[in-house]
Amino acid sequence: METKEYKILFVCLGNICRSPAAEEIMRHFIKKAAREKEISAASAGLISYHKGELPDARMRSHALRRGYKLTHRSRPIRTEDFYDFHLIVGMDDSNIDRLRQIAPSPEEEKKIVRMTDFLREKTADHVPDPYYGGAHGFENVLDILEDACQGLLEFLGKDGKPEPSTI
Ligand code: 4NP
Repeated sequence: METKEYKILFVCLGNICRSPAAEEIMRHFIKKAAREKEISAASAGLISYHKGELPDARMRSHALRRGYKLTHRSRPIRTEDFYDFHLIVGMDDSNIDRLRQIAPSPEEEKKIVRMTDFLREKTADHVPDPYYGGAHGFENVLDILEDACQGLLEFLGKDGKPEPSTI
């Protein structure tokens, strides 16, 4: 059955740091704009190593300080996601390359975009993997995601569809 919602899937490597934070931040802005009926956000990872786990404790703690409670459980991306979702948002070059490799068709491959393409104020060409770094890395990820999620929401015009001029 055709759903009326515009469905966004955020994807990173482990689905325990960047993409679950992006999912929750996006939900926050969708709710703030009262657009829950038009747009929904979810997340997945490119590896299944952390399947079933809550987001990394450091990511949860940094996010909570900004008011985002991360409760997602890590799950690997699956082929059906390419059909189920309207937009598949990767965080870095490696994510995008891998997503392109596993896209089931050229039509579905067109759904793949880069998170940083939606930045409004900050300048970055990827969302850096914070996993092996310190506190600054997690704060930087949140700064980038907050800016890009607001940009993404603006990109989605009325009815949760991309603005015609941007397709
Ligand atoms: P994420 O961060 O891709 O933002 O969830 C990572 C999480 C786990 C690993 C790498 C990155 N890992 O190698 O297990």
